[in-house]
Amino acid sequence: MIKSFAQEHFEIKQFFRKAAEFIRLIMKNALLNNTLSAFATMISGVGTAVVLWYGALQVKAENMSLGSLLYFYSSVGVLFSPLITLTNMNVITQRLLTVLGRVFSILDEEVTIKDSENAVDLAEVNGAVSFRHVWLKYEGSDEYALKDINFDVPPGCTVSLVGPSGAGKSSLVNLLLRLYDPTEGDILIDGHNIKDVKLTSLRSHIGLVPQEAILFSGTIAQNIRYGRFDATPQQVINAAKTAEIHDFICSLPEKYETQIGERGMSLSGGQKQRLALAMALLTDPAILILDDSTSALDAETETRLWATLNRIMANRTCFVITHRISTAMSAQLILVLDKGRIVERGTHEELIARSGIYRRLFEQQRTAA
Ligand SMILES: Nc1ncnc2c1ncn2[C@@H]1O[C@H](COP(=O)(O)OP(=O)(O)O)[C@@H](O)[C@H]1O
Ligand SMILES: [Mg+2]
Repeated sequence: MIKSFAQEHFEIKQFFRKAAEFIRLIMKNALLNNTLSAFATMISGVGTAVVLWYGALQVKAENMSLGSLLYFYSSVGVLFSPLITLTNMNVITQRLLTVLGRVFSILDEEVTIKDSENAVDLAEVNGAVSFRHVWLKYEGSDEYALKDINFDVPPGCTVSLVGPSGAGKSSLVNLLLRLYDPTEGDILIDGHNIKDVKLTSLRSHIGLVPQEAILFSGTIAQNIRYGRFDATPQQVINAAKTAEIHDFICSLPEKYETQIGERGMSLSGGQKQRLALAMALLTDPAILILDDSTSALDAETETRLWATLNRIMANRTCFVITHRISTAMSAQLILVLDKGRIVERGTHEELIARSGIYRRLFEQQRTAA
């Protein structure tokens, strides 16, 4: 980014400004520290001098023996050195308190989304999903991201979510996984309010392929297996085949053992999307969510992938977020979102019959194609 905007000069200046500030603080710290210990040394020096001077006077006046003075003098020495150490302790303590303050500010962060007291496990999920008057306002924002969302999806049905970016499509599916809780309203899966279901149980039944796939440092096999640690190597390969990424993996010298992520090779957006898809498919979820999951693929791979995806989607509930009407049109239910509201709903034919946003998008994309 910096190179492409030719901003090296600006960034170097920024860096030097930060570095200069850092050096200034280090100097200040050293100055204060040294002043403090010089002060402590001076006090101990002066103290010792006073003891010796007064002691010498007493010895001379024969009020005290030389032995007592020397004994007292060495005791004072023993007393002063811990005192000097104590003044240095303060510096160390202050530094530690700053560090601990930061650590505790993270540890003290309240976890708002957690299991309710009587949370239950869902052993089997058919995949009926209902949203009942769901409103969502993100913390720190004053606009509702979702407004009065209502719909019912029977098990095995495919729902397409379309609408401009920022309409609330990703927010809607994130609520299903309880990544956030709705501000108002309820979400039901097979009639169970998801607030009363154990989080691990809820999430094990839902496969999410996020808009921006995030992979972990490790091998390709480890990444795919993240969905289900007990999967067999054959299951991993099958998931990769379905996600149309197996051939690519086999073209790599180390195949499934190739390191990816921070310390390994980097993948293209489309390759990441397909790995994330393999990860989600491995868990064989009752509810599958594809958040713009094929947007980074070339047209040919995308068509091939959708042929297999349609087969996989046939016997489970699916939410498909997409920009392409050609992808959305085959769904049994299409929800058109705009500014957090469902503005149109129905099948492709029903929505085309109306002259709304959906029909306009359809015509725009048809003329573009
Ligand atoms: N984690 C978040 N915190 C605050 N605001 C968010 C967050 N995620 C999304 N939003 C806001 O909510 C609105 C809907 O976003 P999103 O659901 O991502 O839309 P879409 O997926 O349709 O593009 C946007 O205005 C966005 O800025
Ligand atoms: Mg989105």
